Amino acid sequence: MSNISNISPLLLFSLFSLITTTTAVSAQSQTLSSDIAALQAFKSSIKPNTIPSYSCLASWNFTSDPCSAPRVTHFTCGVTCSAVSNTLRVTRLTLDPASYSGTLSPLLSRLTQLTELDFADNSFFGPIPASLSSLRNLQTFNLRSNLFSGSVPPSISNLKSLQSLDFSHNLLSGSLPNTLNSLTNLRRIDLSFNKFTGLIPKLPQNLLELAIKANSLSGSLYKSSFDGLTQLEVVELSENSISGTLEAWFFLLPSLQQVDLANNSLTRVEIWKPGTLNSDLVAVDLGFNKIEGYLPKNFSEYPRLSSLSLRYNWLRGPIPREFSRLKRLFLDGNFLNGKPPDGLFSGVTSVSGSLGDNCLQSCPVSSQLCLKSQKPTSICRQAYGGKPRSS
Ligand SMILES: *[C@@H]1O[C@H](CO)[C@@H](O)[C@H](O)[C@H]1NC(C)=O
Ligand SMILES: *[C@@H]1O[C@H](CO)[C@@H](O)[C@H](O)[C@H]1NC(C)=O
Ligand SMILES: *[C@@H]1O[C@H](CO)[C@@H](O)[C@H](O)[C@H]1NC(C)=O
Repeated sequence: MSNISNISPLLLFSLFSLITTTTAVSAQSQTLSSDIAALQAFKSSIKPNTIPSYSCLASWNFTSDPCSAPRVTHFTCGVTCSAVSNTLRVTRLTLDPASYSGTLSPLLSRLTQLTELDFADNSFFGPIPASLSSLRNLQTFNLRSNLFSGSVPPSISNLKSLQSLDFSHNLLSGSLPNTLNSLTNLRRIDLSFNKFTGLIPKLPQNLLELAIKANSLSGSLYKSSFDGLTQLEVVELSENSISGTLEAWFFLLPSLQQVDLANNSLTRVEIWKPGTLNSDLVAVDLGFNKIEGYLPKNFSEYPRLSSLSLRYNWLRGPIPREFSRLKRLFLDGNFLNGKPPDGLFSGVTSVSGSLGDNCLQSCPVSSQLCLKSQKPTSICRQAYGGKPRSS
């Protein structure tokens, strides 16, 4: 029905001016000057001899605007920009792994539109500046595999948009900030392979994955740290000094799938039947602890559990028949006794793992589960209250 003659001259004029203004803006648009200053400060804090000629940072030449296209020779990588209310802002800093070495300039905190900061696999060192807490839009913060030291600044709790935090493989120390739980968008934490000490603080409620392997965390796992974590699927806390009892609430966390608490100092494990909970628990590693008592039979009540390691603990008593259902079963290095259940050797699908270095009777040598030999009788007698033969 309508044709061009129906459009008022005023509207046409407005359209025309809109087009010309837009063109003018994009031709002249510039990165916000404080963003440029931040990038410059960042680059100048990196040792020049650690910036290889082929690297992203080598292409950061401030004679051109960092965000203006085309970026053929200058700023070819490492920086991503977006228009935010008519100015160009840096939204992602994702450096290549090039062994860059230097400290982090506190001025990076001016890049307030950053959603991603990824400096993984380089040689940055020194502290993580507390000023970075002003990066309110940051969703992904990845400093994995560098040489950062010092503690995690408590102000990290201001990064309210944070979804993924990876500071693994650094030299970070001190205790974990007890303000972590205010990061309600945080889904993944990886602080593995650092030197953190102290207790696990109260954790953020929407967490899916917690990894703090290979540190020096101590104390027990307290229910108060894990309260309300209904989505937690993965817990990786191996190679720490976590001690005491792993209480019954732990395996009842409703979304739990994988648990690695190997190489700690746990002395007891309480495990209840999942009850009405539709448990997704698949794999549990509690090897190399100091767990005493009988093998926790209730593990066999978890319908999806397929891999269980309790190797090198101080467990005693017989192996429950129900364990034959598992696909991987490592129970070597305990004081288990009796005759292992036939189901382990005659099941439809064979169970892999090890039952060696125990006090088992007639572990069939034809089974690879029994390849490793049992403990000497004298040690087993001693463990079960008999007199050791040698004294
Ligand atoms: C930066 O770019 C300008 C102009 O393209 C060039 O003359 C200058 O040598 C470059 N500087 C470095 C350090 O590459
Ligand atoms: C756990 O501890 C045992 C015994 O000290 C050691 O052989 C093993 O390598 C450790 N595992 C890891 C992953 O550190
Ligand atoms: C198994 O779980 C039930 C609760 O579901 C508990 O009452 C019982 O003590 C547990 N058994 C063992 C051996 O821990």
